[in-house]
Amino acid sequence: MLIKLPKASDCPESDVTPESFYLSRRSLLGGALAGIAASSLPRWANAVEASRYADVEAGRAPNWFTEKLPSTHWQAITVKDEAITPFKDATHYNNFYEFGTGKDDPATNAGSLKTEPWSVVIDGEVAKPGRYALEDFMKPYQLEERIYRLRCVEAWSMVIPWIGFPISALLKQVGPTSKAKYIRFETLQDPKSMPGQRSSFGLIDWPYVEGLRLDEAMNPLAILAVGMYGRELPNQNGAPLRLVVPWKYGFKSVKSIVRISLVSEQPKTTWQSIAADEYGFYANVNPTVDHPRWTQARERRLPSGLFSPNVRETQMFNGYADEVASLYTDLDLRKNY
Ligand code: MTE
Repeated sequence: MLIKLPKASDCPESDVTPESFYLSRRSLLGGALAGIAASSLPRWANAVEASRYADVEAGRAPNWFTEKLPSTHWQAITVKDEAITPFKDATHYNNFYEFGTGKDDPATNAGSLKTEPWSVVIDGEVAKPGRYALEDFMKPYQLEERIYRLRCVEAWSMVIPWIGFPISALLKQVGPTSKAKYIRFETLQDPKSMPGQRSSFGLIDWPYVEGLRLDEAMNPLAILAVGMYGRELPNQNGAPLRLVVPWKYGFKSVKSIVRISLVSEQPKTTWQSIAADEYGFYANVNPTVDHPRWTQARERRLPSGLFSPNVRETQMFNGYADEVASLYTDLDLRKNY
């Protein structure tokens, strides 16, 4: 993948939102939604709220999202002692090649993506195939907030509060047949709204495709996200529906999904097709297996700058080994990177 070195001006350390501040925002939002008066919160929380929640830019959520949001199970999963990445970094340092290869291109260009109406096709080895309007597709699912680490193969990382639902719940709805062994996800292909698909950056054979083994998709940590930071997904982060698999490198987390297929063969994925020796199908975060061009032992936690690089050790399976290591007991992770 293309790597851009951080500029000294990138995100000063002081921009980090301490988790306690973030969590106080969450509890205020949750409390407000549940009809609890903000005055019941400690005074400092109100002050923090007033000054910090403004960081999260308001979006224009579709009705189905606004209706579902109040019953979200907040902080269903969280991280301990790690700050949530500021919203500004999470939404202005992105990989979404459909909108350009620069880290700030998606924020600049993704406004052209029209996310309403949106439909999702479910096909392949399933009992209930179909094309669903997103609002109908979402009806069965209880939203949960999942605060996860996101580790990019390029060796930067963030902590993002996603809102979504487990893929296992979707699989229960659609009923994979006995032939289904993998799940394949496809991003929208629309060169009119996606300048990267029109450009001469010819490496990628659009649409962007990713996949998981079925047992990986069934793991409770694997989710489809529709929101982050208490609001709907911004376009640059993969609105209106994206995959999030926190124990894998970020490129597995395919954005703006329009098709989900249950298949019997391992799908050919985008980055594997571009450089199979660098980007494998599994892409599990693994500090002991280096990328051919750089180490994976460490990562830069954003915000990170030249004078405060904020480097930390990368954890096996991105810190989720207890939950997912059992999926790979029979696999040589050096060969199946
Ligand atoms: N999905 C699509 N359709 N196109 C992309 O270019 N980039 C991937 C992944 N999903 C990408 C994509 C990569 S390399 C990463 S690291 C994550 O999205 C980044 O997600 P973020 O921009 O929300 O941090």
